[in-house]
Amino acid sequence: MHPTTKVIRTRTNRTDEMEHSSPLFLTSSFCFDNAEEMRAAFADETDDNIYSRFSNPNVTEFTNRMCALEGAEAGFATSSGMSAVFASFMTFLKNGDHLVSCNAIFGSTHTVITKYLPNFGISYTYVPAGDTKAWEAAIQPNTKMIYLETPTNPGLDIIDLEFAGKLARKHNLILNVDNCFATPVNQTPIEYGADLVVHSATKWIDGQGRVLGGVIVGKKELIHNIYLFCRSTGPSLSPFNAWVLSKSLETLDVRMERHSSNAFYLAQQIENHPKLSWLKYPYLPSHPQYAIAKKQMKNGGGIFCFELKGGLESGRKFLDNLSLLSLTANLGDSRSIASHPASTTHAKLTEQERLAVNITPGLIRISVGLEHRDDILKDILQTLDKCEP
Ligand SMILES: Cc1ncc(COP(=O)(O)O)c(C=O)c1O
Repeated sequence: MHPTTKVIRTRTNRTDEMEHSSPLFLTSSFCFDNAEEMRAAFADETDDNIYSRFSNPNVTEFTNRMCALEGAEAGFATSSGMSAVFASFMTFLKNGDHLVSCNAIFGSTHTVITKYLPNFGISYTYVPAGDTKAWEAAIQPNTKMIYLETPTNPGLDIIDLEFAGKLARKHNLILNVDNCFATPVNQTPIEYGADLVVHSATKWIDGQGRVLGGVIVGKKELIHNIYLFCRSTGPSLSPFNAWVLSKSLETLDVRMERHSSNAFYLAQQIENHPKLSWLKYPYLPSHPQYAIAKKQMKNGGGIFCFELKGGLESGRKFLDNLSLLSLTANLGDSRSIASHPASTTHAKLTEQERLAVNITPGLIRISVGLEHRDDILKDILQTLDKCEP
C-alpha cells in the first residue's frame, strides 16, 4: 500500500460505537479487568495501555501514521520538537561520549548541544554543512552520533543524506536527522541510512499553527530505548495534541504540494529583485546544493530565504511594512510567515556564530502558506519597494 493511503487508513481500533473518525481518548490511565492482566501489562508481556505518560491510543495512531510516512519500524511521540531532539540525545549519549553535528541547526538545538550536553560530560564538534572532508575528520574514537538537519533552519543548506548514511555506517555511528523542514512526504532519511528521524510536529505536520508536538521514528530497538527514557522522564504528547496532529497527517501530502508550488513560484518571481543580494530555494538551479536537493527531495519545500541589500535596517523595514504575511515565531502554517532570524530564533548565538552558519543581518525567512500565490507575491513586492536599496 502506498504511504499516502496507509497514513489515511491507519487508525485506532474502532469502539463499540462504530465511529468513522477516531475518537479522542482523553484519559490519564487505563483500566484492567483483573490483577493478572495488570501484572502482565506492567511486566511488558502485553501491549495494553497503562498510563498516558507511557502510551495512549491517539498518540499511538499518530506515531503509527508517522512511521508509515517515514518508512520506519517504530516511533515515539513527544510534547514538542525540542523534547524529541533532547530525548534522542539523552537516550544514547552518556558521560565521555562525543557528538558530531552540522553547525547550521535550529537555535534551541544549538543551545542544548553547546550549553547542556557538556554538563553531562558529552562533547561535540560542529562541522560545516557542505564540507564532507570535515565531517569524517571530526569523528573521534568516542563519537556515538551524527546529528543534522536538511534543509537547515533558517539558511536552507542541503546535506547529502546518502553521504551521511554511508559515513555513519562506516564508523558504526547513530545517524540522527531532523526532518522538520522537508517533512516525510518530501524526504525520507531512513532510505539513505538514518537510524533516527526527529520532527517538530508543531510545524508542517500540524500545518495550522495550533498545537506543539514532536516525534522520533526509526529502528525498533533504538525506539524502544527512547520509549524507556521518555516513559520515566515524561515528555509525553497529550492525547488531544496527538488527535489534532494525526488528523493533520491525512492532508499533509496535498498541503505540502501546494506549499511547495507556491514557494517555488514566489522564489522564481523575486529571485532577481534589485533589493536582494541573493535568494535561496532548494529547487532553484542557483541553490549551491541544487543537485543534492533534486536527488533526495521530491519537491523544494515551503520555505525560501533571502538577504536584503540594506542589512539589519532593511530587515526591520521589510517586516514593518508587510500587510498580509504574519510576524510570528513559527513556520509551516497555512498562513504565510516572515521572520528575521538574527533578532529572534538565533538571537542567543553570538554574531560570529550566526555568521558561521550564514545568518546574516538582513536574512529574511519566508514560510509560504496556502493563500493565493499572487496575494503573497503582492505583499512581498510592496514591502520590498519600501526597503533601502
Ligand atoms: C528544525 C527544527 N527543529 C526543531 C524545532 C523545535 O520544535 P518545537 O518548537 O516543536 O519544540 C524547530 C522549531 O522551530 C525547528 O525548526
